[in-house]
Amino acid sequence: LQLGEKYIQPETKEVNGILVTKTMSENWDNIWNFQARPDDLLIASYAKAGTTWTQEIVDMIQNDGDVQKCQRANTFDRHPFIEWTLPPPFNSGLDLAEKMPSPRTMKTHLPVQLLPPSFWKENSKIIYVARNAKDTVVSYYHFSRMAALLPTPGTWEEFVEAFKAGKVLWGSWYDHVKGWWDAKDQHRILYIFYEDMKEDPKREIQKILKFLEKEIPEEILNKIIYHTSFDVMKHNPMANYTTFPISFLDHSISPFMRKGMPGDWKSHFTVTQNEEFDKDYQKKMAGSTLTFRTEI
Ligand code: A3P
Repeated sequence: LQLGEKYIQPETKEVNGILVTKTMSENWDNIWNFQARPDDLLIASYAKAGTTWTQEIVDMIQNDGDVQKCQRANTFDRHPFIEWTLPPPFNSGLDLAEKMPSPRTMKTHLPVQLLPPSFWKENSKIIYVARNAKDTVVSYYHFSRMAALLPTPGTWEEFVEAFKAGKVLWGSWYDHVKGWWDAKDQHRILYIFYEDMKEDPKREIQKILKFLEKEIPEEILNKIIYHTSFDVMKHNPMANYTTFPISFLDHSISPFMRKGMPGDWKSHFTVTQNEEFDKDYQKKMAGSTLTFRTEI
């Protein structure tokens, strides 16, 4: 596999009932045995929940608002994506994580039951970011169209059905958000929402600061809000995934930094599709105290 060569759409496999890429499934033993450290910080989420945004906020906090330092490398290299496995010569998340000196900040999309157990044992801090199902499925659909690294999504209708059935990479959104929600009371987990971040970034960044036991002057806080806004991140090559080869991510099909707005689902769902989605959603989320806003 060469840069520029068309990447072949990955085959998928299940690990404990969760769909992953074949390369990830072949690396599963190593992923499961990953050694976390007590001073690790993990940013966890379902795909397309605002992970990259949260990563940029965290990096800016850790570097006291130093924009230059945050541009030392692209998001993928700054924060190893632990389970993400690519064929050589590309770096896999585990290799990057193992080489990284402490304190490390890493990323995962694993559902809570598949998180390497050393994270619980070492009591590492975890920030979980969640986004409403409708905007997530829209974002996931467009990302799957542009990312040759993910299975092809099929039509929009097909993709919505696969999403509802949990037959997409990293499994069921419903189980993912609920699973981590239930785990948050037993572990050091800060659970935040995309919609809240959009509504009041200052308030949400302050929550993250408190969780990281860090204080910064107001002036730096304002700088972080600015630097991590959608419009600024969209033009930051170290945060917008444009450093990846076009054969992996083709931004001309749909840019990684696409809309960045709660409520974009309204321009995708038909009335019937929306009604069916809501009905199915009620069933899948019944009994959970977790609630989402689909617009702000
Ligand atoms: P859209 O496709 O709806 O635009 P992830 O990083 O988890 O893959 O999530 C990607 C989604 O987060 C994309 O959503 C992307 O545009 C959005 N996003 C990234 N940075 C953002 C920011 N600073 N503000 C708002 N949304 C952002």
